[in-house]
Amino acid sequence: MAKRSPLKNKNLLLGVTGSVAAYKAVELARRLKDEEADVRVIMTSASLNFITPLSLELASGRKPLTSLLEEPLAHVNLAASADLFIVAPATANTISRMALGVADDIITACFLAYKGKTLVAPAMNPAMYTHPAFGRNLDFLKNALGAIEIAPEEGPLACGAAGIGRMAAVERIVEAARDAFAGKDFQGRRVLVTAGPTREQIDPVRFISNRSSGRMGFALARAAAARGADVTLISGPTAIEPPSGIGKFIRVETAAQMGKAVLEEVNDAGVLIMAAAPADFTPEETFTEKISKSDTLDLKLKATHDILLEVSRRRKRPFTVGFAAETGSGTGRAEGKMKKKGLDMIVFNDVTRPGAGFDCRTNAVTIIERGGGRREIPMMDKEDVANEILDSVLQLLNA
Ligand code: CTP
Repeated sequence: MAKRSPLKNKNLLLGVTGSVAAYKAVELARRLKDEEADVRVIMTSASLNFITPLSLELASGRKPLTSLLEEPLAHVNLAASADLFIVAPATANTISRMALGVADDIITACFLAYKGKTLVAPAMNPAMYTHPAFGRNLDFLKNALGAIEIAPEEGPLACGAAGIGRMAAVERIVEAARDAFAGKDFQGRRVLVTAGPTREQIDPVRFISNRSSGRMGFALARAAAARGADVTLISGPTAIEPPSGIGKFIRVETAAQMGKAVLEEVNDAGVLIMAAAPADFTPEETFTEKISKSDTLDLKLKATHDILLEVSRRRKRPFTVGFAAETGSGTGRAEGKMKKKGLDMIVFNDVTRPGAGFDCRTNAVTIIERGGGRREIPMMDKEDVANEILDSVLQLLNA
């Protein structure tokens, strides 16, 4: 559970419409409750074909409203008390009717009576999503009425089609809701973040890599963007979706490519956060054909360039944060790296500790500052760890 959720005690109005994805609203309501938000569900009659109010009542802790006339003036009262309106899943029909100002069900009537921030998570067939008639309505809802779209994802859909239209993952919707309340204390700052592993090619089918998932770097990029920063994210190969809200996303494969991209982007940055795990070694020779099986194989590796060292040698360099993933609890090696690489801050974590390190959603770190300050961050969501790191960065930048 997130420890410092901006959703705590916020009144969230969750509109559920008639899509196959409606069952995911149960998980969404539960996740929002986990963030200690007060969740009130409102449902269209079409949604009742896909999900029962009882399931959503159990998940949200409150009885959903399923019609406009169920409670007198419910649409006005709910609209007045809501801090955020989320429609997920949002069908083409509901989105279009919201855009047109129709108010003949509880969701559209609440929307018309409501003045705050709205998030919509479309869910529909790809042909419908890309239809110009729907596109015009969605554009109007976003551009003229200020709603924020949590874009659907590509993939196979329940209708048998494949393409864009599957509702965004519940996690992305929760993140967007959290972002809606984030303070903009990084406004006007350019933040360059690196994430993930790199791949060093041995032959056309094999490479050397490491266990970095990219999650910590992606969480930092997302959190900085949510706090108003202009973020560029450079990432090695990862299996996770690029975060929303960032200005520029650069995909690289090798440590050399990552180094080149960082050096190209770093001049514009006020802050560099090197959360990536670039390979320290790369094959001296890349074979152009697949190496055949044999009893033994001698591979000669050479060291890659240290990206942070190169940045630290520059005359003009940003506030620089490095990471030290170590196998043990002592911070001596991390402090050595901070000095050697001329860092302003290093984030140490012991990857042998369960729940802290590679490919998991949580982390526990020690933030070590050049001037000697240090903060122990206990085990928490990587999203929260990211915000703690950003808090430390901002404190030093403002000092
Ligand atoms: N780093 C870098 N360029 C590299 C390797 C690492 O800029 N070629 C950065 C990482 O992004 C991280 C920091 O240096 O922010 C420390 O990385 P780490 O792998 O812990 O340390 P190394 O310097 O590679 O030393 P070692 O592998 O011996 O621990």
